[in-house]
Amino acid sequence: AVRAAIVTCGGLCPGLNNIIQGIVRTLISLYGAQQVLGVRGGYQGFDEASSPPIELTLDVVDGIQKMGGTFIGSGRGSFDLEKTFQFLKRHSICQLYVVGGDGTHRAADKIAEEAKKRRLNIAVCGVPKTIDNDIDMLDRSFGFDTAVAEAQLAIRSAQVEARCNLPNGIGIVKLMGRSSGMIAVHATLCSGEVDLCLVPEVPVVTDGDRGCLQHLERVLEQKGSAVVVVAEGAGEDVLGTSAIVDAGGNRKLPELGLWLKDQIVAHFKSKGKPATVKYIDPSYMIRSVPANAADSIYTELLAQNVVHGAMAGYTAFSVGMRNNRLVYIPIGAMVKNSPRQMDPHGQTWERVISVTRQPNTVP
Ligand code: F6P
Repeated sequence: AVRAAIVTCGGLCPGLNNIIQGIVRTLISLYGAQQVLGVRGGYQGFDEASSPPIELTLDVVDGIQKMGGTFIGSGRGSFDLEKTFQFLKRHSICQLYVVGGDGTHRAADKIAEEAKKRRLNIAVCGVPKTIDNDIDMLDRSFGFDTAVAEAQLAIRSAQVEARCNLPNGIGIVKLMGRSSGMIAVHATLCSGEVDLCLVPEVPVVTDGDRGCLQHLERVLEQKGSAVVVVAEGAGEDVLGTSAIVDAGGNRKLPELGLWLKDQIVAHFKSKGKPATVKYIDPSYMIRSVPANAADSIYTELLAQNVVHGAMAGYTAFSVGMRNNRLVYIPIGAMVKNSPRQMDPHGQTWERVISVTRQPNTVP
């Protein structure tokens, strides 16, 4: 009899509940699994003393896809190999489904390795999750499509604010993407109304003829308003000297968007043409919504196929779309080059450049 457990780790992402529902339905309805447990709050949930698991039946998961977030909760870190094995043994789990990013998958790989060492027959199966779409080898990760569509709404608001705040209205939208500008670039491309898009993959230049400030000046002269999209991880080069080290010794950079806002205001003031800058940060709004139609279908495929992989006897694998086909990827291979970055000279980026180039540009 199949007894399985599901854990969701890391930041939220549209479609997590679809994945949970799809795994539970495939396991129970198709393969007659005896029990499916939801581990609460990410890896910390393997320590049952703090949060006991929840039994996921067909009734329990009915309708959860309509809600944002994850029905079983999520969390970062807190991975403990011993506690994980105590849990798996206590509940006689033979299939563990891990939904998370590269860090989560690295831990999953350790579980699979340890299971092999202990000669335990446990399939460890991953479903890659990252709102940033920065897991290597995948065409796209689930939730990304929904997030980009939501980001587009924020860009639209920024555009309205910029256009109506006369003269010299500027809207800045901050989007998630610690090491990759994928969300920022895609939202820029689909909105068609962004004049400048800053991403971690390309150094930020503020001053001089090729700098952001002069570019915005040219845009304002021609259009009267401008919209800027800033990916969270962009601008390390210009912000580096303003880094703050917190009590835990972590280096924290100021937000590029807020920093840029001050630069823009000062720049246009010094030129005698004051600008009104509105700053919008929709970060958590774009990842806490339910999956859209495309992501709902994608998550259904991922969920069904990850279960098929486990039932076929695979372990230490993850499932994803690659070259438009659903494939099983060994976890080790998938996390080797993750998180990935965009190719700034690639096709997508070239198109964004052409967006940012209107009417004149930062080359
Ligand atoms: O998973 C990565 C990410 O989406 C980053 O882009 C962002 O910095 C981070 O999550 C924020 O999540 P949280 O605030 O939950 O740590």
